[in-house]
Amino acid sequence: MTDRELFLIAKEALENAYAPFSHFRVGAALLAKDGRVFTGCNVENSSFGATICAERTACTKAISEGTREFEKIAIASDGGTAWPCGICRQFMYEFEPELIVITGEDEDHLEKAKLNEILSYGFRLNDDLEQIESV
Ligand code: THU
Repeated sequence: MTDRELFLIAKEALENAYAPFSHFRVGAALLAKDGRVFTGCNVENSSFGATICAERTACTKAISEGTREFEKIAIASDGGTAWPCGICRQFMYEFEPELIVITGEDEDHLEKAKLNEILSYGFRLNDDLEQIESV
């Protein structure tokens, strides 16, 4: 699956966004290592803090469908380039620090970076299982 194809799927996914408060629709498409693609959109809430971003929707869908190994994620928005927010960076870092993140103004102007480049020193207990076992 090319970056462009994945981005186009993310663009389609933003059509399902529920964003009556921000009017900023976001779509995500997450490619798992088993070849499956999981889409997500942002789902806002009257209690603003309960809002879920597109990236976490996609990631949570994938995990609940039995896969935790990811290759890349594409993110599209109404407002063009949309790098993941800090919470989403940390959320995805749990599963794949080397995840490729793709976004851009449109499918002809894509940018990409590795998750661990845009989240330095991310928190991951899994990196040190001995430490977890000792507590
Ligand atoms: N949003 C995402 O879906 N992903 C991000 O990485 C940034 C923010 C959503 C949350 C909220 O519904 C809207 O964009 C405005 O913050």
